[in-house]
Amino acid sequence: MSVTVNEKSKLFVIETDNSEYQFSADEYGVLRHLWYGERVGMSMEYLCEYPDVGFSGNIYEAENRRSYSLDTLPLEYPCTGTGDYRISAVSAVHCDGSNALDLRYSGYRLYDGKYSIEGLPAVYADDNEAQTLEIYLKDSASDIMVTLKYGVLPKLDIITRSAVIENKGESSVILTNAASLCLDMPRDYNEWIHFHGRHTLERIPERLPLAHGILESSSRRGTSSHQQNPTVILCNGECTETNGKCIGAMLMYSGSFSTKIEYDQLEQARLVMGIDPELFRWELKSGEKFFTPEAVMSFSQNGFEKLSHNFHKTVREHICRGKYKLAERPVLINNWEATYFDFDENKILNIAEQAAALGVDLLVLDDGWFGKRNDDCSGLGDWFVNTNKIKGGLGKLAENIKSLGMRFGLWFEPEMVSEDSELYRTHPEWAIKIPSRYPVRSRYQLVLDITNPDVREYLFESMSNILKSADISYIKWDMNRSICDWYTPCLSSENQGEMPHRYVLGLYELLERLTTAFPNVLFEGCSGGGGRFDAGMLYYCPQIWCSDDTDAYERTKIQYGTSFFYPISAVGSHVSAVPNHQTGRITPMETRAVTAMAGSFGYELDLNTLSDKEKQEVKKQIVRFKKDGSLIHNGLYYRLSDPMTDKFAVWEFVSEDRSEVLVNGIIFRTEPNCTQYIIKLRGLLPEADYRLAENGEVYKGSALMNGGILMPKSWGDYAPVDMHFTAEA
Ligand code: GLA
Repeated sequence: MSVTVNEKSKLFVIETDNSEYQFSADEYGVLRHLWYGERVGMSMEYLCEYPDVGFSGNIYEAENRRSYSLDTLPLEYPCTGTGDYRISAVSAVHCDGSNALDLRYSGYRLYDGKYSIEGLPAVYADDNEAQTLEIYLKDSASDIMVTLKYGVLPKLDIITRSAVIENKGESSVILTNAASLCLDMPRDYNEWIHFHGRHTLERIPERLPLAHGILESSSRRGTSSHQQNPTVILCNGECTETNGKCIGAMLMYSGSFSTKIEYDQLEQARLVMGIDPELFRWELKSGEKFFTPEAVMSFSQNGFEKLSHNFHKTVREHICRGKYKLAERPVLINNWEATYFDFDENKILNIAEQAAALGVDLLVLDDGWFGKRNDDCSGLGDWFVNTNKIKGGLGKLAENIKSLGMRFGLWFEPEMVSEDSELYRTHPEWAIKIPSRYPVRSRYQLVLDITNPDVREYLFESMSNILKSADISYIKWDMNRSICDWYTPCLSSENQGEMPHRYVLGLYELLERLTTAFPNVLFEGCSGGGGRFDAGMLYYCPQIWCSDDTDAYERTKIQYGTSFFYPISAVGSHVSAVPNHQTGRITPMETRAVTAMAGSFGYELDLNTLSDKEKQEVKKQIVRFKKDGSLIHNGLYYRLSDPMTDKFAVWEFVSEDRSEVLVNGIIFRTEPNCTQYIIKLRGLLPEADYRLAENGEVYKGSALMNGGILMPKSWGDYAPVDMHFTAEA
């Protein structure tokens, strides 16, 4: 059993293999957070001794206990307006205009299995792999009930959180904040890491000290965004890859989100994570429920590496779904950087013929195959084939590609519309805009109002028609702008604040419908590269195009940051041409390949520009990926260097039985007469002998982990590192 309940003291203890989480309902029914960290084996309530802190008020029933204050105590799901002045997890405006909530414990339920969430993605597990604890809270004055849900996957050291807010009263209530997670941390966390970036440079880790006040990492763009990712790590100054304790939290949500940390007057840290409250205002009518997205947490006492392993396994085995969840992914070639909009069916077939000869499995026809789309000014929304470009249509093209022994995939950007499109001319009211204002254009395009069921129906029908019209095995689901101008004719003026979240619900509904109707199609997410790289999207699409930056050197930073929470199999990564189209940088072909292989591997270049020698190299790389792909996707991933500060980026894959080890990376610069770099391996069997394929030498696991191995002598800039060790039987 991973959850134990002491009915008398109302103490709830959640245990995983290597962590423990505790909270209790006190004598006033207030739910106090007691612990999240190492296994401690006793109630941590004794730490809840607080002084009388001036200007921190006391709940009425506490009478003259001036040391009992909601403003200082660690709380499980704090509310607005009743004496806790720190950031709250939930706020509501009642029919009399007041906004106080005071949630008190009213019961619990414990059952085997993992709860799911209506209309939203959530971690799933078999009944023997997980338990669910539900805690019931009731507002002392109104008929608002809150159910806090905890899902426990003990083997993975994972605890999930979600809340259901229900209005059991007669009148509507307006929710203005409904977070998924609040965590009042024990006092030994004083740093945090968030993942920031921009288009073509996503998920760069930034480690900062906590500072008094509120720190925030959030998106108000309608998507999880390039600029911030809905993931966060809390740690202390000593925490490294392999040592020290840290807590990771990941929000399973693809829309605007907020992660806030308040470091309070007593140097306590409170983390609150959920839908971004700034644009959120949700009417909860009598009898209705609101479901928050899920937050996924893990604790590690062995540094970031263990945290990442926990999240990787969870995302891969308990979030990603469908046929391709654990299956070998096809090696694909995408025509975007090869042709951009300038192609016809002959050009595409020419790429396919050459790719087939090299062993590529799938050709992806990117943007430009539909409507009147010869540049990015027009055509979005017109999901019918442009037969001027693809003469004979998609069915014929797919057949021709199939006859080469390859499969066929297609790009869509379903959520968008160009003003110059048949769809917009017919349904201008389907684009998101505020009636009295001009809408903001971005990449010349507007966003479709997918809160409108008619729009979703149109998209389902038009995409289904295309999918039925040809043998299509893959869809790239793109989304190329941030959203503003929030307004929908489908909601009353008072309810416009529901639109950003309803947009995400509409997106999930459409994805669910399409992935269910076409279970054999591999869906890859994308948003100008990695602008919507989150666990919510991974529930529908087991891989996401990681970044529009395909430069191998830049990718080491992007993929390093991405790896803290997301598994390698989720990371869309391609070998592209040099000079690189985003940076002009020239890197060796082998370097581009080892970097792209740390992902769901593919190519994105004009094969006509490759020499015969390079083509032979591509052929070998594909054979290689087919051989090592399982180690790369199923193995444990180790970050052996920090590409932000080190002179090289090196990472390692180790099979679960520790017998196969692959070390890959890039040495950024070659310096003459310098000491050869040493890299220390991790995760090996200390006693085992490992043979290095490249030189035939045998090394003890312990030697490789403690002493390390000399990295290959580099020549030129961006030299590849590629070392394969096998344990001797
Ligand atoms: C986005 C994607 C690219 C490509 C283009 C097409 O930028 O990230 O990979 O599909 O759109 O317009």
